[in-house]
Amino acid sequence: MTADSLTFPTQTRLFDGLDDQPLDAMLLLLRQLRDDPRTGKIDLGIGVYGDEAGRTPVMQAVRQAERIVAEAQTTKAYVAAEGDARFIALLASIVLGAARAADDRYCGLQTPGGTGALRLAAELIARANPDARVWVGTPTWINHQALMRSAGLQVLEHPFFDQSTQTVLFDAMISTLETARPGDVLLLHACCHNPTGAGFTSDQWRTIADLCARKGLLPLIDIAYQGLGHGLEEDAAAMRALLDIVPEALITASCSKNFGLYRERLGALWIKGSNAQAALRARANCVKAGRSMWSMPPDHGASVVRTILESADLTANWQAELATMRARINSVRTELARAVPQLASVAQQTGMFVLLPLSREAVAELRVKHGVYMVENGRMNVAGLRSENLPRFAAALEPYLSKGE
Ligand code: LMR
Repeated sequence: MTADSLTFPTQTRLFDGLDDQPLDAMLLLLRQLRDDPRTGKIDLGIGVYGDEAGRTPVMQAVRQAERIVAEAQTTKAYVAAEGDARFIALLASIVLGAARAADDRYCGLQTPGGTGALRLAAELIARANPDARVWVGTPTWINHQALMRSAGLQVLEHPFFDQSTQTVLFDAMISTLETARPGDVLLLHACCHNPTGAGFTSDQWRTIADLCARKGLLPLIDIAYQGLGHGLEEDAAAMRALLDIVPEALITASCSKNFGLYRERLGALWIKGSNAQAALRARANCVKAGRSMWSMPPDHGASVVRTILESADLTANWQAELATMRARINSVRTELARAVPQLASVAQQTGMFVLLPLSREAVAELRVKHGVYMVENGRMNVAGLRSENLPRFAAALEPYLSKGE
């Protein structure tokens, strides 16, 4: 008897009733780009670094470390639910700085990408305070809200950035956050804001830190692009200063961009607790939550980054290559600001992204007419521009900016 010849009662057909799920804007863009047969497309979509030749190369330090790992690894047996402890300790110094890395109120674990860290953070928040609301700036990374909601958390928005004037709406942000409740969560981008490239001044960071401490808000800080703005230390400085003021915090990091390990899915989550026991207990809750989602994080990327950070030579090579990437991003920003005077602010912003003052229709038209691929909200990845395609992009963009679209 074949399955087709069996008659099932219709009420047992579970999948027939599912809602359609459109791809999110980023995944849709990847598909549209792949399916577009035209040559000369300009890919300014997903946040992946491109060099002057349009390649996303494996970093040299990563290649060397991969060889070492392949030689030295004698087993593929599980590592641990927390991931590779040595990797976490070494990365903590990069992300948190040496003093906090040695402070037992901070406790970390390895996650599948920065996304895994955010998902785990959301689970931890939901366990600690199911009534917590997570405040996110508008706009924020398109996956932030979904990640928080998937743990059952309520998400609330506060103003952050005005796309048409390219300015941070700091006063409006603070006055909205004055309505937050103790125990609410404030999601912040440590540097290289995705999607706007805009950031806070150090005085503004201080105001945010004081607000969190005064109102009892838990900062959840996403540091996915460390090293691609002003430098590894510089990009973490404001976050670290805030961490020294607040009693508790969550920090999510990613090795996708600064180690170029995108597909290996490597990230980390740190919890700052009020004391060492509280931090350890919070991590145990994360391990429990992770166990029912992915059980244990993938090892390859962690072995590679551990190998790099254990070697002074490989670390120096990695940092030099990262500095080259950063310099290229910053020089594309300068070139773009020079080529399109309406975008002068782009030279002052940092990281891979710019949120262009464009309507969704203009973004769609740029794609259809000129093969320019950007996220529907107007986000462009500046690392997708090269000397060869920048003038063509600037010319295609100009009419939409003059029309104020
Ligand atoms: C991006 O914002 O482009 C990246 O973080 C990739 C992604 O998954 O959205």
